[in-house]
Amino acid sequence: MKKTILFFLFLGSLYATSQFETSKTCKGCHPTIYSEFYESAHRKASIFEDEIHKAIWDKHPSKAKDKYTCNECHTPSDTRITDALSKDISATPTKDIAQVEEAISCVYCHSITNIEKHATPHDKNILTKEPKMIFAANKDNRDGKIIYKEEKSFFGMFKKTSGSPFHNIDYTNQNFYTGKMCMGCHAHKENAHGQNICKVDETGASNEEKNCITCHMPQVKGSATTIKITKKHTFHGFAGVRNKPEMLAKYLTFGFKKTASGFDITIKNLATHNLLIHPLRLGKLNIRVNNGTKTTKLKSTPFVRILGHDGKPAMPWVATEIFKDTMLKAGEQRTIKYDKAVKTGDIIEVEFGYYLVNPKMHKILNLENSEEATKFYILKTEFFTVK
Ligand code: HEC
Ligand code: HEC
Ligand code: HEC
Ligand code: HEC
Ligand code: HEC
Repeated sequence: MKKTILFFLFLGSLYATSQFETSKTCKGCHPTIYSEFYESAHRKASIFEDEIHKAIWDKHPSKAKDKYTCNECHTPSDTRITDALSKDISATPTKDIAQVEEAISCVYCHSITNIEKHATPHDKNILTKEPKMIFAANKDNRDGKIIYKEEKSFFGMFKKTSGSPFHNIDYTNQNFYTGKMCMGCHAHKENAHGQNICKVDETGASNEEKNCITCHMPQVKGSATTIKITKKHTFHGFAGVRNKPEMLAKYLTFGFKKTASGFDITIKNLATHNLLIHPLRLGKLNIRVNNGTKTTKLKSTPFVRILGHDGKPAMPWVATEIFKDTMLKAGEQRTIKYDKAVKTGDIIEVEFGYYLVNPKMHKILNLENSEEATKFYILKTEFFTVK
């Protein structure tokens, strides 16, 4: 009976307008997934929830034209802006539900049927037009669709139901098994000069064993729905540089080897893309040696991919070249040599962390007082004892 009431409550509002159904509606039956999503960079991708995005937007030439060209990837659930921009009418974000609560919403993501490739400026998401249809992966039922059914008795009462009392589910979309559905926004972006700003290698979205979804959305404890109880569900906080980096620590490995003049540290990136992707980032490998009485900090190694113009660092929309690229590439292992003599029993601390915004940019972007922009985040720390 309770389910029947829910069914009536929700069905009436689903896809009633051209707007996307809000994520709060999904919360009713998927509360754990919703609370993870709420802390994710996808829910917080708007200028109102991401100070760093706002700082770049504030300086971007599109802002002077009153056209929020970031909408397609940062807040695609805001159909007011999508519609206006498609007619070449100005539109900028206002602090409303679409921007603050939805950004990249549940329904938006689960409606992506395919990716349309474009050499520049970026690829596009193609959404299904089938009402109430949600794509999902299910390895045991990959050719299946679940269409919600209710069979009525002679008296018009519901007798039997199957599937979700809210939406239909289509398990046949291969892109939900390989992670290709992530690529419409993540694959690449070029500026007006054709300079690539950020790129994620396609290999990370080409097979079912190791892809965007398996690394960034691992299986974690808790039921996927409150109606059909499962032990585990797919993590929707999207582990990344902002949220839960520790969940990705195992994809960066360190090695230590004593040498004649000191020691070598190896660092290997097991991710299928550059260790850090966005050009604002500064990664750092920090080494500390403890000899039992004191700790010495050695010179740290930076990892960057800085955009440039005329031989100098430049903002993304001005860039025509790569000024400097020392970022760890997909699968790359690098060895860094230290000329510091160590002896048996010394403890070497190896730490990799990063700033979301390179400290050289804090002042230029008016981010000196932003905690998230100035904080040093740690991805992984490991200790080696000299034998
Ligand atoms: C009234 C309850 C209810 C609401 C509201 C609801 N769902 Fe569901 N959903 C379910 C149930 C039950 C299942 C499991 C169906 C099954 O496995 O037979 C499910 C399954 C799913 C699945 C597929 C899981 C899988 O692997 O089989 C996805 C994706 C999904 N829902 C997304 C959403 C989204 C997005 C919304 C909001 C627009 C939403 N749901 C709202 C009840 C609901
Ligand atoms: C093609 C899709 C796409 C478009 C269009 C786009 N972005 Fe992004 N943006 C992304 C993705 C994907 C990320 C996450 C990348 C990452 O973390 O490496 C991102 C991240 C960012 C970040 C880093 C945020 C952080 O957490 O530190 C900034 C800043 C940013 N975008 C600014 C903009 C601005 C300003 C615009 C519009 C002028 C824009 N982007 C347009 C896809 C896009
Ligand atoms: C950025 C894209 C994206 C967003 C946003 C998103 N999902 Fe998902 N979701 C996925 C992917 C990818 C999977 C894993 C493949 C699959 O099972 O479909 C998934 C899986 C699921 C599942 C199946 C979980 C399981 O463990 O079986 C449910 C249910 C679901 N999502 C509901 C939601 C709800 C509710 C929201 C919003 C609160 C949401 N999703 C937001 C991409 C997304
Ligand atoms: C509609 C566009 C879009 C889609 C689809 C999308 N993303 Fe994103 N993603 C973004 C944007 C934009 C950001 C950056 C948001 C910000 O920080 O302002 C982002 C950020 C991220 C981050 C960084 C999170 C963090 O804490 O730093 C990860 C990881 C990520 N996405 C993974 C995925 C995965 C996995 C999928 C597919 C299941 C996916 N994304 C689908 C647009 C998208
Ligand atoms: C083998 C695991 C693995 C796979 C596969 C993978 N990633 Fe990552 N990803 C990582 C690791 C590790 C990081 C670094 C996290 C950190 O430094 O906190 C990362 C970081 C990111 C970031 C944040 C980078 C930044 O500079 O803001 C985004 C966005 C992202 N991945 C998207 C994707 C997408 C999209 C795919 C699929 C094409 C993908 N990843 C495939 C492991 C993986």
